[in-house]
Amino acid sequence: MALDQEPDQRIAVVVGAGGGLGRAFVEELRGEPGWAKVVGVGRRRPTDWPDDPRLPFLVADLLDEQALAELASALAKLGAPGLILIATGLLHEPGLTPEKAMKAVTAASLSRLFEVNAVLPALICKHLTPLLPRHERAVIAALSARVGSIGDNRLGGWHAYRASKAALNMLIRCQAIELSRERPLAICAALHPGTVDTPLSTPFARGARSIATPREAAAKLLKVVHRLEAADSGGFFDYDGAAVPW
Ligand SMILES: NC(=O)c1ccc[n+]([C@@H]2O[C@H](COP(=O)([O-])OP(=O)(O)OC[C@H]3O[C@@H](n4cnc5c(N)ncnc54)[C@H](OP(=O)(O)O)[C@@H]3O)[C@@H](O)[C@H]2O)c1
Repeated sequence: MALDQEPDQRIAVVVGAGGGLGRAFVEELRGEPGWAKVVGVGRRRPTDWPDDPRLPFLVADLLDEQALAELASALAKLGAPGLILIATGLLHEPGLTPEKAMKAVTAASLSRLFEVNAVLPALICKHLTPLLPRHERAVIAALSARVGSIGDNRLGGWHAYRASKAALNMLIRCQAIELSRERPLAICAALHPGTVDTPLSTPFARGARSIATPREAAAKLLKVVHRLEAADSGGFFDYDGAAVPW
């Protein structure tokens, strides 16, 4: 399915483009030369999405494999992705609050966060990495979180979110190993955006030492993404490009 088109036909794809960071990635990428299109993907098109042929928005149920297969076909018609950013994620929703202690952990909260934070990005990797060009540099990266680092966990808490991001990190590592065999110039990485002012962080960010705007965080992460080399594939990097321990 990979399209070996001219590099100036490369497209950038942002999955979760309606979210705080996803939307900021789209805005930053639309200002970068070299992308024929910046494609937003999400479960619903934001009501204020621009009516711009260079910024198509594809709607799909991101947890449904048939819908993802159809999404891959629709993307393939638009061009070969030089960049796929997975900016989906969940920390809280009605009835679901990050746990302070193991006694608050429920099967429902664990299942829900694993579904959105690990299963969903894994299915995106499964269906969209075959679209990456075979013989050129290309990047697929997912937004993880430093709290998903097992080595860095000194505070505990947020059990389901932390565990789901740790699972995501392992899936990204597995995907990177496969990619190195099939597409040696492609890079697959996990990214930590820092604390960013979005609906995901709003209830919890008051104690944070610094809070970035989504545009600031997206711009910093894109600099990191553009500097990644094949040898970095399978890694976990923060907004300054520093490696985060697993
Ligand atoms: N903000 C921070 O401080 C921070 C810190 C560390 C890591 N992160 C990570 O950064 C990523 C982006 O977060 P954000 O801060 O931009 O949060 P956000 O504004 O809440 O955006 C979350 C995105 O995930 C999508 N999403 C959630 N559940 C979904 C589902 N079941 N199916 C399809 N899409 C779903 C949302 O889609 P809709 O638009 O359709 O709701 C939205 O696009 C997440 O992975 C998060 O864990 C954020």
